Amino acid sequence: MRYRELGRTGWKVSEVSFGAWAIGSAWGRVDDNESMAALNRAIDLGVNFIDTADVYGAGHSERLVARLKKERRETIYVATKAGRRLSPHTADGYNRQNLRTFIEDSLRNLETDCLDLLQLHCPPIEVYYQPEVFGALDDLAKEGKIRYYGVSVEKVEEALKAIEFPGVQTIQLIFNMFRTRPAELFFPEAQRRRVGILARVPLASGMLAGKMTSQSAFEADDHRNYNRHGEKFDVGETFSGVDFETALAAVEELRAIVPAGATLAQLALRWILMFEAVTCAIPGAKRPSQAEDNARASDLPPLTEVQMAKAREVYDTYIRKLVHQRW
Ligand SMILES: NC(=O)c1ccc[n+]([C@@H]2O[C@H](COP(=O)([O-])OP(=O)(O)OC[C@H]3O[C@@H](n4cnc5c(N)ncnc54)[C@H](OP(=O)(O)O)[C@@H]3O)[C@@H](O)[C@H]2O)c1
Repeated sequence: MRYRELGRTGWKVSEVSFGAWAIGSAWGRVDDNESMAALNRAIDLGVNFIDTADVYGAGHSERLVARLKKERRETIYVATKAGRRLSPHTADGYNRQNLRTFIEDSLRNLETDCLDLLQLHCPPIEVYYQPEVFGALDDLAKEGKIRYYGVSVEKVEEALKAIEFPGVQTIQLIFNMFRTRPAELFFPEAQRRRVGILARVPLASGMLAGKMTSQSAFEADDHRNYNRHGEKFDVGETFSGVDFETALAAVEELRAIVPAGATLAQLALRWILMFEAVTCAIPGAKRPSQAEDNARASDLPPLTEVQMAKAREVYDTYIRKLVHQRW
């Protein structure tokens, strides 16, 4: 496993880290023993950073991470999120009092007295124009409730606005072979300001693992069933916003550039790591075998110019017109 500096935090985090949404909720049936085994396997292989949120199974994901931290002696940085418990999810809900309540609940779930990294969870656009929200986070940091804070965003423009606030240490956004626009304007600006970048949905919800077919079916409580068209949350979070059949066709073309002995999932992760502005990819994993497959992507040699050019060509041919100007 290789490590990268996370913004100005002084932390060195595993370039392939762990996304803990699926072990909490919204991805069909999961087994806590398997989830714990997946987390443990990741730590065995050098992963030291986990992304979770208060809403992933109403604290369940956070509680599994707390269990992991009790079982392991290694340093494990935990990023969680706040805001999505608001219903309705409105900008005025991102006030000092609610943020404190959400943070106190996460502190309890994670069994700690200070959160390593607290991210606003894809807040409404107005929040980026309310400096008092970021002021409240500065105060919570001074108070010792949170060590650092960042923002999980939907759009490049939100990322650019968020990093104008000097306290923002990290931006989490979708970046993968089906979502390349962040590399154009945002990455150079984030590097200039030394802001860490967490690349989420790196496997386009498992699509880029290359295991799906037009017959693939998903359980009723899996967002790949119920959010195909953005029925519950931003459609970009499900298969990266690419329609299923187009995604399958693009994946078929990508098989040609999978490095010898590697998996398609590893190609997808290694592609992300080719961008030095990215601190880490945070693939979700429900089983130890997935955690292992993903962590080992860090050991692959850099992709060649030919592989990168083919990935670009597939994006330009299949994906660009569907997503490029949407997020
Ligand atoms: N708004 C936000 O802030 C937000 C939104 C989305 C995600 N996130 C964060 O980003 C993380 C990653 O995104 P994501 O979980 O949505 O999508 P993802 O990482 O692209 O896909 C994860 C899913 O792909 C499958 N998979 C993983 N590794 C695999 C492998 N090696 N081979 C085959 N299949 C594999 C698993 O599901 P199956 O086995 O069921 O196929 C897994 O749950 C989340 O866990 C969460 O921490 C944050």
